[in-house]
Amino acid sequence: MHSIAAAARLSARRTAPSAARSGLARTALRASYRRYSTQPGPEATKSNSSNTALFAGLGAAAVGGIAYYFYTSSDSVKSGVQAAKVAVNFVPSKEDYQKVYNRIADHFDADDYDDGSFAPVLFRLAWHSSGTYDKDSKTGGSNHATMRFEPESLHGANAGLHVARGIMEKIKSEFPWISYGDLWTLGGVAAIQEMGGPKVNWRAGRIDGQAQDATPDGRLPDAAQGADHLRNVFYRMGFNDQEIVVLSGAHAVGRCHPDRSGFSGPWTFSPTTFTNDYYRHLLDEKWVWKKWNGPKQYVDKATGNLMMLPTDYALVQDKNMKKWVKAYADDQELFFKDFAAVVSRLFELGVPESQFVTSEPWHLKTFDEQKEEAKK
Ligand code: HEM
Repeated sequence: MHSIAAAARLSARRTAPSAARSGLARTALRASYRRYSTQPGPEATKSNSSNTALFAGLGAAAVGGIAYYFYTSSDSVKSGVQAAKVAVNFVPSKEDYQKVYNRIADHFDADDYDDGSFAPVLFRLAWHSSGTYDKDSKTGGSNHATMRFEPESLHGANAGLHVARGIMEKIKSEFPWISYGDLWTLGGVAAIQEMGGPKVNWRAGRIDGQAQDATPDGRLPDAAQGADHLRNVFYRMGFNDQEIVVLSGAHAVGRCHPDRSGFSGPWTFSPTTFTNDYYRHLLDEKWVWKKWNGPKQYVDKATGNLMMLPTDYALVQDKNMKKWVKAYADDQELFFKDFAAVVSRLFELGVPESQFVTSEPWHLKTFDEQKEEAKK
């Protein structure tokens, strides 16, 4: 929590000059008055850390900025009475977000989970919290982190994501000032970068919403379908064919779980390393229907160890999409460049521009970059 006092000092330097910025801060301030989460972070209700945050925050109030609420009464929460709220101004700096990034990445390694890492499932949480966006109604997206609430947490597509939300809850208790939307999307960025993927720009500014901000079931893609369905779903978010293909390359990492989606297996032989192997396998392997009692999916004929969903295979069945599969199979650098730009947009879906704390995107550093810097 010492970081918060440091943040306050830094923010005093950062915030002052721009009129636009203070207007922006006011907008965010108004927004956060209107819409604070009904779920306080666990530590924020009872621990010393929240008191520390409170005092540091009060110190920071002098410099103005975005308001965060810290709940101060655990009894009132327990009794179901609206918790007493104290508004404090605290402007976290880029350094504070780097600390959160580092704590998230500290949680990736897990010897007894899947392929040894929680990074893929945390990445999936970021995507599922963003991919509910509808550009016409401007509903859904990463702003409100509504997957904390039922029924969204119980939507079939979100099966298994309680694992990721549980890890994020631990981080939230250490950094109660961060919104869930910022925390979850930052988790996606950390996962991509730490798995060796491209550097992904990210901005802070999401605010916690409430259950009523959730979108209806059915907005996320259904893996049993084909290219038309992918177009319906991703065009609704504002993406085009090329972007559908580039985002699908995320399946270079992670795996399907029979007890979650019903599907089974990884897409690549290195499911904790971000590569363009997904596209290479799509083109180079011979894919056959898996003979089993589960949902229809493909396996590679050569080893039987890799899988493709019907929606993955649709990318090589559709002429326009296939040309992008080829482009990314041939050129990992191109894939990384395009993926970084598109996933950064994905993670910002549903967040009004006025809410972002900066117009300049941030690059939060990987562990390796930080180590390199420390050597200098
Ligand atoms: C194109 C439509 C998509 C469909 C139909 C789809 C479907 C699925 C399914 C069925 C799973 C397995 C879940 C489980 O059993 O645990 C999965 C896993 C995953 N998906 Fe997708 N997905 C799509 C697009 C995306 C996108 C756009 C991203 C990110 C940008 C993404 C990232 C992931 C990751 C990282 C996993 C692995 C999770 C883990 O290992 O626990 N997917 N996806």
